[in-house]
Amino acid sequence: MPSAKTPAPLAAVVLAAGKGTRMKSQKAKVLHEACGRPLAWFPIRRALELGADRIVVVVGHQAEEVERALRASLPGAPLRFALQREQLGTAHAVLAAKEALADHDGQVLILSGDTPLLTTGTLRAVVEARGAKPVSFATMTLDEPFGYGRVVRAKGKPTRIVEEKDATPAQRRIREVNAGLYCSDAAFLWKALAKADTRNAQNEYYLTDLVAAAARGRGAVAVPVAPGEAAGVNDRAQLAEVARVLTQRIAGAYMRSGVTIESPDRFDCDEEIEVGADSVIEPGVRLRGRTRIGARCTIGQGAVLVDARLADDVVVRPYTVIEDAEVGAGSLLGPFARLRPGSVLAEGVHVGNFTETKKTRLGKGSKANHLSYLGDAVIGAGVNVGAGTITCNYDGEKKHETRIGDGAFIGSDSILVAPIQIGAGAYVAAGSTLTKAVPDGALALGRARQENKEGWTARMLEARARAKVASGGGGPDGSGV
Ligand code: UD1
Ligand code: CA
Repeated sequence: MPSAKTPAPLAAVVLAAGKGTRMKSQKAKVLHEACGRPLAWFPIRRALELGADRIVVVVGHQAEEVERALRASLPGAPLRFALQREQLGTAHAVLAAKEALADHDGQVLILSGDTPLLTTGTLRAVVEARGAKPVSFATMTLDEPFGYGRVVRAKGKPTRIVEEKDATPAQRRIREVNAGLYCSDAAFLWKALAKADTRNAQNEYYLTDLVAAAARGRGAVAVPVAPGEAAGVNDRAQLAEVARVLTQRIAGAYMRSGVTIESPDRFDCDEEIEVGADSVIEPGVRLRGRTRIGARCTIGQGAVLVDARLADDVVVRPYTVIEDAEVGAGSLLGPFARLRPGSVLAEGVHVGNFTETKKTRLGKGSKANHLSYLGDAVIGAGVNVGAGTITCNYDGEKKHETRIGDGAFIGSDSILVAPIQIGAGAYVAAGSTLTKAVPDGALALGRARQENKEGWTARMLEARARAKVASGGGGPDGSGV
């Protein structure tokens, strides 16, 4: 009964040591991001989804930065990093992972750090197709196979892979190419790679020799996959293209789960963002970081949400920017509102156009509808913050807090010089500059008293005319020319 066997333990090796010359970048290729994740995040994530219990990432160029970025974006993942000091070829790269897999007895999945479109399903197909053979690998059939390793077959069975630079003209016409995704029995892998040499046009250790070694023995299994999936990123145009495909996939998943995306072509989104059902996302929205959006929310055109946490029924009007902030259910933001880090809004809060909040709490039902700056403030429930109100939180050295009690009414154009407390139910007269605490229920007037001078305009004009005549100025008609 050969079938009922439990599958051998699976480890993965992700090759990410290359520089990526064609990116024309100071930054290693796998550090470039798509959907908010470094490129190497994708194959690692897919291997984890498949059930790999250990991932060895082979790093070289900017090894420390790559390790830091991947650890940060995959907290708690079973990652190990193996350094390939010199990039002597793909076989040499896999060998760099050998030590980190010394105690691994099972199978090894090998992926490239620059192929972010591979799906878990494709990985699974390659692993499952191996069966009792030593090696399986993914192939794709391309109209333009240039640059890829060609799959040479004999009697229908793959015998080896020939790189573009080593291929004969006849081999170059082969359209079935190596996608760069392999699954190998671990023991076989190390034995075969020990024999790899550099007798080829590029003087490199070729991982593709693994396929020839398997074919000489019990055989290698070629697994055809969709060409689009194994697309690699070599330059910025391909980076943009994979980002587009990844975004479309996310948009597709949202739509299937009941989210309306008005224009999937004009939508940007990081990986692993949650959006609740019946939410509507208007064109040009950008969702980033650890953003969570509840049910029945509307995210208006051009809004940018970074690490934003929105409860249900929140309406974000166009061109609002939210960063590291929490928004309670039924709140209404924007258009053109800006919530900066540490803003915490309770239910039913309104923050309107050209209002900026930073490290500020707004209690249930409070409103700051127009042109305000609220920084380092704790604002109670049912507070009305009039247009143009400013919390002066900074004295040039330190930040200070403003506290406003429940139900207070802050008149328009008020300047609240912190530290300051406005009591519950207090009223602040429009145009006040306040530097002292206002007791509960009091009216605070902090502005110069108004004085009206009756008949002043006529007296002023008369005086002006007299002055002109006395100085002999003015044309014949008194026009002043
Ligand atoms: C390789 C395959 C080719 C296949 C193609 C698919 C070989 C010899 N050729 O070619 O058959 O069609 O992928 O995309 O394997 N890397 C290292 N260290 C090294 C060399 C490479 O980490 O010393 C990494 C690269 O950073 C990259 C991956 O391995 O992530 C693939 O290397 P690359 O040079 O792009 O291989 P190709 O020439 O494209
Ligand atoms: Ca190469």
